[in-house]
Amino acid sequence: MSDTANLAAKTRAAIETWMLEHREFPPPPEFAVQANVNDPAVYERAATDLEGYWAEEASRLDWYRPWDTVLEWNPPFAKWFEGGQLNVSVNCLDRHVQAGGGDKVAYYWEGEPGDRKTLTYRDLHDEVNRAANALKALGVKRGDRVAIYMPMIPELPIAMLACTRIGAPHNVVFGGFSSDSLADRINDSQARVVITADGGYRRGKASGLKVNVDEALAHTPSIEHVIVVKRTGQDVTMVDGRDLWWHDLVPRQADWCEPERMESEDMLYLLYTSGTTAKPKGILHTTGGYLTGVASTHRQVFDIKENDIYWCAADIGWVTGHSYIVYGPLTNHTTGVMYEGTPDWPDPARWWEIIERYGVSIVYMAPTAIRAHMKWGPKYAEQHNLSSLRLLGTVGEPINPEAWIWYHDHIGGGRCPVVDTWWQTETGCIMISPLPGITTTKPGSATKPMPGVDADVVNDRGESVPVGEGGYLVLKKPWPSMLRGIYGDPERYKATYWSRFPGMYFPGDGARRDGDGDYWLMGRVDDVMNVSGHRLSTTEIESALVDDKRVAEAAVVGREDELTGEAIFCFVILKSGVDAVPELGEELRQHVATKIGPIARPRQVMFTPDLPKTRSGKIMRRLLRDIAVGRPLGDTTTLADTGVVELIREATRSAADDE
Ligand code: WTA
Repeated sequence: MSDTANLAAKTRAAIETWMLEHREFPPPPEFAVQANVNDPAVYERAATDLEGYWAEEASRLDWYRPWDTVLEWNPPFAKWFEGGQLNVSVNCLDRHVQAGGGDKVAYYWEGEPGDRKTLTYRDLHDEVNRAANALKALGVKRGDRVAIYMPMIPELPIAMLACTRIGAPHNVVFGGFSSDSLADRINDSQARVVITADGGYRRGKASGLKVNVDEALAHTPSIEHVIVVKRTGQDVTMVDGRDLWWHDLVPRQADWCEPERMESEDMLYLLYTSGTTAKPKGILHTTGGYLTGVASTHRQVFDIKENDIYWCAADIGWVTGHSYIVYGPLTNHTTGVMYEGTPDWPDPARWWEIIERYGVSIVYMAPTAIRAHMKWGPKYAEQHNLSSLRLLGTVGEPINPEAWIWYHDHIGGGRCPVVDTWWQTETGCIMISPLPGITTTKPGSATKPMPGVDADVVNDRGESVPVGEGGYLVLKKPWPSMLRGIYGDPERYKATYWSRFPGMYFPGDGARRDGDGDYWLMGRVDDVMNVSGHRLSTTEIESALVDDKRVAEAAVVGREDELTGEAIFCFVILKSGVDAVPELGEELRQHVATKIGPIARPRQVMFTPDLPKTRSGKIMRRLLRDIAVGRPLGDTTTLADTGVVELIREATRSAADDE
């Protein structure tokens, strides 16, 4: 079984890390004293009265109508706060404006070229209302899906909130995805409208987005209109009657749009993520439970106060941006920073400059970014005054202790707690994380399940494993922001998450627990890779490779990489008569980038005459991973040498033993 082999390899690596790592950081007393949560009784309270705990968290929101039941649990289908009615945009905006908080800054936005904008809660409220009216004017109704494909500009959260105001679920597609990936997601969700921009800025260049939308729209019959924000001013084609400029359509709308009273279990959004097959899954989130989960965890984990300046450096195209740039922070009336571009433009000091300029007090970023900064060196951070920081967070992949310590020392000045937060697109909100006023942190450990989260580490038979032993992470109780399904595919929802260990949610991660009950995440144990914190499916990349006429077969594995966590390594068998020239390797790498998106561009392609398979025909990825690890990563294309070929043949011959 490939998961088991994966788990064994991960356990070996993780145990080495753990044996070396003994440092502990109790919460600084001055932090603990002022923390939103500093009484450990919260864990006990949530464990003994799960529904009471979540009901209390949900009461921090504004509801038009209170719920009748907190939880209806027909495993694996949950309903939270049934009977309750609310509107997300009202919770994020109207109630703050009505309470006198309209002048507070919602976002300090900074474009990559250096242009800046400040939006107050009132500004955001008015823009969202106009955008909502614009969608209505195009015929978008409650329940219709709207696709959003945008750079990190203010119109992106405005578009999302406008959808929530009229009850039209959004489907945000990360701007780094290709036109094919966009078309697949539009078709699966049957969206009626796409909101996009002409392009965006990345590393000093204007990249095109509308051009990708145009290509996608050749295959997406459900789309009736495209709304285009002018960001870069590049030339774009506008189709009469179908395509409309945001600046023509939105500003002329009224700044009041009556919010829809949504049912708690109405769909809020779809967000597609990679699974173990070639077809991405439309993760379905609903309204009341999701908002409760993200607002509650944002307040607790980031210790949000009225005067904080909070910066989550993720892209809104991923779940981290949905939950912790848009919905959690706005519900909590937080002032946020939003930045369009890359960390090293025009030089690697850009992020630290932003922290100094806005006086950021809480920052949340991916381990990959921290490792990139480590490589560039601390001198860029040293050029800037980072003394406004009081709390640091990480998300997206396991953080190696060395990067944790670097972050703690060089960015946090040794005084800020670090919260390593484990969660997924599917969980909606943070599930395992320190509470910075309570938890003693350990570099490399996400520490404890959040209050109300019942986690465990189990073996193949679903039994808890002893302290220190590697196993599968599972979650044993429902939580409000859990996914409600995979759009249009309840069977796949059951099979993917709930069938491996009956009655338990299986996220696909390996983990260990130490004697203090702290969790050490070990990465994915399925065929999902994590490259720079981005989830990618090996199967999806394999099918992109096989899509090239010259390729007979392909196998893709993630190999460990110092900077990106994992790097994509492809084994390719060519059709007979096709020459394995290095240029072909380059072409195939480019082909994958075109088919899926630049984030999926393989690091290396290796041509081989064979692939190791079990007798039932399953590719033995474990062996391929071992081979990949033995290869230098300098060249992007290599030909399997005789040693490798022999290894593969040998494995294939003895495959029977492996089954
Ligand atoms: C991984 C991102 C270790 C994990 C929020 C999970 C992590 C996948 C951590 C979800 C962490 C995320 N430590 N691993 N702190 N955070 N992961 O859906 O493998 O893009 O299953 O959600 O990222 O990725 P997704």
